[in-house]
Amino acid sequence: MFARRIAVVGTGYVGLTTGACLASLGHRVVCADVDVAKVHRLRAGHVSILEPGLSELVNEGLAAGRLEFVVGAAQAVVDAEVVFLCVPTPMGAGGAADLAAVESVIAEVRTVLPVGCVVVNKSTVPVGTAARVSALLKRKDVPVVSNPEFLREGTAVRDFLNPDRIVVGCDTQDAAERVAALYARLGAPTVLTDAASAELVKYAANCFLAMKLSYVNAIAELCERLGADVADVTEGMGYDRRIGQSFLQPGPGWGGSCLPKDTHALVQVAGAVGFDFPLLTATIDTNTRQRERVVSKIRHAAGGRLRGKRIGLLGLAFKAGTDDLRDSPALAVAELLLAEGAELTGYDPGVRGEVPGVRVVDDAYAAVKGADVVALLTEWPEFRCLDWSRVAELVDSPLVVDTRNHLDPDALQRCGLTWWGVGRGPAN
Ligand code: UGA
Repeated sequence: MFARRIAVVGTGYVGLTTGACLASLGHRVVCADVDVAKVHRLRAGHVSILEPGLSELVNEGLAAGRLEFVVGAAQAVVDAEVVFLCVPTPMGAGGAADLAAVESVIAEVRTVLPVGCVVVNKSTVPVGTAARVSALLKRKDVPVVSNPEFLREGTAVRDFLNPDRIVVGCDTQDAAERVAALYARLGAPTVLTDAASAELVKYAANCFLAMKLSYVNAIAELCERLGADVADVTEGMGYDRRIGQSFLQPGPGWGGSCLPKDTHALVQVAGAVGFDFPLLTATIDTNTRQRERVVSKIRHAAGGRLRGKRIGLLGLAFKAGTDDLRDSPALAVAELLLAEGAELTGYDPGVRGEVPGVRVVDDAYAAVKGADVVALLTEWPEFRCLDWSRVAELVDSPLVVDTRNHLDPDALQRCGLTWWGVGRGPAN
């Protein structure tokens, strides 16, 4: 029979997406969280994460009786054939992944796991964690499988249901096949491998993406010095099928809850086995430099000094389509601007509430009012459609620093504004 009884521990964007999508594939899913209020909200069909399609899937699952929410992992796993661990693995001391949440779930469930069930690590964990979880479980009858997720925030449901690949690793072939079978309906290429290889796929993929972006940001800087246009350069590169057009957009540096954490963690993972990884450390350093470069552009636009200058920030989230501020390059830039004495007003369509040092306002026009420089930091589509002549009337000085090359320079110019991009346009 295809349908399985599944427990998902952790209802963050990975856990909730996994649970709701597996339910939509016909499985019977119980999701657990330690946050009692959140569990109550989810039972009532309220999804607080900004993730297109997720709320609909959760409500469909609840209505069909295939999706349930409970408090605490122990209650969720009692009847499960497969238990997914989807708890956070934040950056801990020295850049290594902090596994406290994984360990505490294992301690909670180890004696109540049904005989012969499979535990699946979905969280990004250092290579060797499946073996470590196995050792903590002390249950010879419960294999531990690594099944990394490749979900992007903002498109998590689409990514889950249309995966480029499924990766399942276990030192017990039969357990890996049982987990792979859960996704059979998706018809995706499946890599069945050992646990260590599956764990490394996730880091290797995320770090490669980070490297691609750092490379592009460096090429953008070079374009500025050589008078080339990075948009044309990356378009020309991207037609090469070995390179591809995606992940070639320069910006204020890459951020979010995954790439920064995973690049640092892989440096640690490599260091632990005596492997020096200069390519990866340069990827991280280039990203730090990119943020500084953006600040120097804004400083230049402000006339050489930031003290007392009013900067209007368009975008605060780490990318468009999300309300997530974790490791947001926009906030890193804001922090550097603040350190030089700038006064910041910011607007982000997804972000409400407080951001340290930034006066957060309710619309883009309020953010740019009286600004000495407008800085676009997140590529929300609505910023393209702003009434730029109104912006031109509101600002004190007409300079717009577009750190994502997101806006139409001609449209801005027609309204009397000066557009500065990254790796293209007038040298600045
Ligand atoms: C990333 C990976 O893309 C997912 O495959 C992975 O599953 C996920 O991490 C994870 O480990 O869970 P995510 O962090 O949601 O997904 O965000 P991305 O879309 O990868 O963007 C990362 C950063 O790169 C953002 O700051 C974004 O603005 C930036 N970026 C992305 C660019 O500057 N240029 C681009 O062309 C693409």
